[in-house]
Amino acid sequence: MLIVSLLTLLSFTAALSKPATRSLEVHETRAAVPSGFVKSASASPNTLLNLRLGLANSNTDGLITTLYDVSTPSSANYGQHLSKEEVGAFTAPTKETVDAVNAWIIENGLSATTISPAGDWLAISVPVSKANEMLDADFSVFTHESTGAQSIRTLSYSIPTDLKGHLDLVHPTTTFTPPSAKSPIHAVKFAGNVTKRDIVDCSRFVDPQCLEQLYGIPTTAATESSNYLVVTGYNNEYPSTTDLVDFLGPFQSAESSSTSYTVVEIDGGSYDPSNPGVEADIDIQYTVGLAIGVPVTFTSVGESASDGVFGFLDTANYWLGQSTTPSVISTSYGSNEEYISTNVYNSLCNAYASLGLRGTSVLFSSGDGAVTGTQSEDCTDFVPTFPSGCPYVTSVGATQGNSPETAADFSSGGFSNVFAIPPFQASSVAGYLAYLGDTNAGLYNASGRGYPDVSAQGVDFIFNYQGSWYLVEGTSCSSPTFASVIALVNDRLVAAGRSKLGWLNPFLYSIGKFALTDITSGSNPGCNTNGFSATTGWDPVTGLGTPVFDELVTAAGL
Ligand SMILES: *[C@@H]1O[C@H](CO)[C@@H](O)[C@H](O)[C@H]1NC(C)=O
Ligand SMILES: *[C@@H]1O[C@H](CO)[C@@H](O)[C@H](O)[C@H]1NC(C)=O
Repeated sequence: MLIVSLLTLLSFTAALSKPATRSLEVHETRAAVPSGFVKSASASPNTLLNLRLGLANSNTDGLITTLYDVSTPSSANYGQHLSKEEVGAFTAPTKETVDAVNAWIIENGLSATTISPAGDWLAISVPVSKANEMLDADFSVFTHESTGAQSIRTLSYSIPTDLKGHLDLVHPTTTFTPPSAKSPIHAVKFAGNVTKRDIVDCSRFVDPQCLEQLYGIPTTAATESSNYLVVTGYNNEYPSTTDLVDFLGPFQSAESSSTSYTVVEIDGGSYDPSNPGVEADIDIQYTVGLAIGVPVTFTSVGESASDGVFGFLDTANYWLGQSTTPSVISTSYGSNEEYISTNVYNSLCNAYASLGLRGTSVLFSSGDGAVTGTQSEDCTDFVPTFPSGCPYVTSVGATQGNSPETAADFSSGGFSNVFAIPPFQASSVAGYLAYLGDTNAGLYNASGRGYPDVSAQGVDFIFNYQGSWYLVEGTSCSSPTFASVIALVNDRLVAAGRSKLGWLNPFLYSIGKFALTDITSGSNPGCNTNGFSATTGWDPVTGLGTPVFDELVTAAGL
């Protein structure tokens, strides 16, 4: 009786009180519509927007400090990766933050759903008119010119002043992405009538055996089933088991008979192996083919991804939600940094930091547009790619040939406009900038994080697609190759009772000289310049260089 009347009283009070008027403060803004997009109409007031609210993590500084502590080889805590719950303690919002944001949502007659393992992302559904009022925004319809794809975005939005420090971002708002992430495939050509004998001719093609020879990658099968490798797939691209079996036919070593991978579908992703995609086929053929005996999982990320960053955030959160995270995640998709709002980029980058702290190495292809990013249009300034600028991913550029191995001219590399030079690469980048002198001055950001971190072969990879042989080039080939090497190093570590490598960058920059082959020739021209040149030491074309398996194992302490 008492409870019922209290509830009645409460709802009566709530009904009478009008939402408190809060003062709003501009939170994120863009000076102009990004290139490639036009504003085409105002958005219908009744259209429902699915917005995500990123809540302030309780301890981002602690997350990053701990990540460095467990990932820096000279640290006493090296390799002491944390559990899901321990990482969650850094990324979970405080109760004060959750209460403050929820009060605002309820006061506006809305309700929120928690959508991330740590509770730092909420989702709300809200009509355009209400969103414009709550956020002092101007949600409009924007068209991506080359594809005609439309999205509802705003050039600016505000949040209540008293939520600053609690609410990191509302999304998608000022992030304008093309309809899909681009897969860095620079060229594909028919390989002709390839016979088994041709395939092992390393002067004509790159195949798993050539990579095994060049980088000293072992052909003995991995033994540790907990050490699994994840390949991510977007844009409804799937691998084909039949293509994989056809591909492995000529290459499979006696030690391994595995021709399989598992599939995980998220965000409405599907899997139709009878209708394979080139990117997915390459990624699966070169991970299953190289990381012999390592369990490989393909993640098919579907079109219902509403994270506004191609599903990348959903993918990271999916794997963060597992009790054992992957050993390595390789992604051969990306975009240009300029499309992504700084707050969104930061928040995605912290999700990669969280994966690093769990013991996962997160690898991305650096892109195939050399210094033009992923675009091929005319550019004045160099265009950094996304998400290679995040210091907590390992960005992989491309090389070609083996006498000497040289930079591939499409290998994207440069400097982020969002992330500053991180400590692990400060002296490497300083060395390169001193070598560069005035060359390209003003075209790149000399205080930004340099990428790629490393490189691997990326030209004339042979692969099988629906029964025929093709040659492909692109950093799409390089990331799965480097990822396979890391997965095999991790297999040896786990077998010896040691920790996996986790976030690679502090390790790579401290051992680079010994465990990687420095690539010192070639360049990545673009934007009417010669781009950057590869040289001794780190460079923004080939990073620190290409892997030397045995030396990496030794550097890892085995
Ligand atoms: C491919 O080469 C093989 C062996 O030389 C030959 O038997 C076959 O007919 C050729 N196929 C085509 C389509 O040219
Ligand atoms: C250059 O990079 C720095 C450090 O990340 C950043 O603060 C600055 O805004 C960038 N400059 C431009 C013009 O983007």
